[in-house]
Amino acid sequence: MMKVMTIFGTRPEGIKMAPVVKAIEQDTELECVFVNTAQHREMLDQVTALFDIKPDYDLDLMKPGQKVEELIGLMFSKLTAIIQLEKPDLILVHGDTTSTFVGAYAAFMQKIPVGHVEAGLRTDDMYSPFPEEMNRQMVGRIATYHFAATQKNKENLLKEAVKDKHIYVVGNTVIDALLEITSRDFQFNHELKHIFSNGLKTILLTTHRRENYHELVNIYQAINQLINDYDDIQVVFPIHKNPDIRKKVKESLQHSNRVHLIEPLDYETFVHVMKHSYVVITDSGGIQEEAPSLGKPVLVARNTTERQEGVDAGTLKLVGTSARKIYDECSNLLSNQLEYKKMEMIINPFGTGQTATKIVDLIKSIILIDKLGAHFDVKENEIIG
Ligand code: UD1
Ligand code: UDP
Repeated sequence: MMKVMTIFGTRPEGIKMAPVVKAIEQDTELECVFVNTAQHREMLDQVTALFDIKPDYDLDLMKPGQKVEELIGLMFSKLTAIIQLEKPDLILVHGDTTSTFVGAYAAFMQKIPVGHVEAGLRTDDMYSPFPEEMNRQMVGRIATYHFAATQKNKENLLKEAVKDKHIYVVGNTVIDALLEITSRDFQFNHELKHIFSNGLKTILLTTHRRENYHELVNIYQAINQLINDYDDIQVVFPIHKNPDIRKKVKESLQHSNRVHLIEPLDYETFVHVMKHSYVVITDSGGIQEEAPSLGKPVLVARNTTERQEGVDAGTLKLVGTSARKIYDECSNLLSNQLEYKKMEMIINPFGTGQTATKIVDLIKSIILIDKLGAHFDVKENEIIG
């Protein structure tokens, strides 16, 4: 029986790793150990409850207003103890967060091979997104197995001299999660039912990027202007729990009965809010991958994106963080139906689902063969010696 440990702890990792945890749990040849760093608390708990995945270890690391530097140290020592105790055959991490990097580095220090899910995303600007781009590059160096969503992600890894035979293009697990969630029966709660029955066009807004902190005022200024100029629109804004973001929202976003400031939504509700929205303005990563499946245009309020596939396909527009540009691009979509329709009709470049099963099949076949290969190498060397 091969023991596979998964390490993650933020909302987007939870959404994208839930299908992988489920697929490992359902496989009779694999043993699953899920370590929740709990880098996020409420926002991750919403996900584990929704997908019904239960951690074997919960590090309970989130503290309000905690600095990344502080989190890294605590996480590293706690993870090391668990890895030493469990001695897994393989550790899976996902994406680009602190949990991803520390999980991979702790695995490396114990000489456990790492599989990186959602490998090969790059902007090649080490400070944007910050610190995610560097987290990805470092994990790319540590990992043995790279589960890339797209061919472009694979090419990024090849440029960094990652071995071709260890890169697998499998699509993004976010599509698995999205398909599973949209197959469930769903009804909005009273508040959201009310919001979506008023006939207004909805702009869905989310912001949380660290490198955007000083630009948030521009994004909110664009929103204020749009609300003032268009009386047939409303904004739904589930605000990230980060207190730095909340402070900026309070300071810069004007009060209006057409701006709905709400708590983070559970993933199922959020997906249905996306479906009911006209356009999304966001600096999120995951939302850029989901929106094409729901036919929603996304204005990406960032200066770089590592999801160029969505831009090339035409579903994402990288609009930067100037108030003028965000206002103009959103106005264009509100008034130019032709432009809107073009962005609505896109096929999702990030895959079609079934990614988690592909990853589990790969773990069982290729990684097992590698393990046997390493065993034979050692034997051969011993004979020669
Ligand atoms: C983290 C990731 C980022 C990812 C984002 C997803 C890093 C460096 N950043 O950023 O890559 O895109 O998660 O949302 O790993 N908080 C709560 N409750 C929660 C979650 C957060 O109160 O459930 C508050 C806490 O005060 C916490 C703060 O938000 O200290 C920031 O959380 P943190 O995980 O450090 O950074 P994010 O901005 O969420
Ligand atoms: N999301 C959610 N509830 C919300 C806002 C977002 O479930 O209120 C989901 C969203 O659908 C996507 C993921 O959270 O799958 C993105 O998380 P986030 O933007 O926090 O992180 P990123 O993807 O930028 O790392």
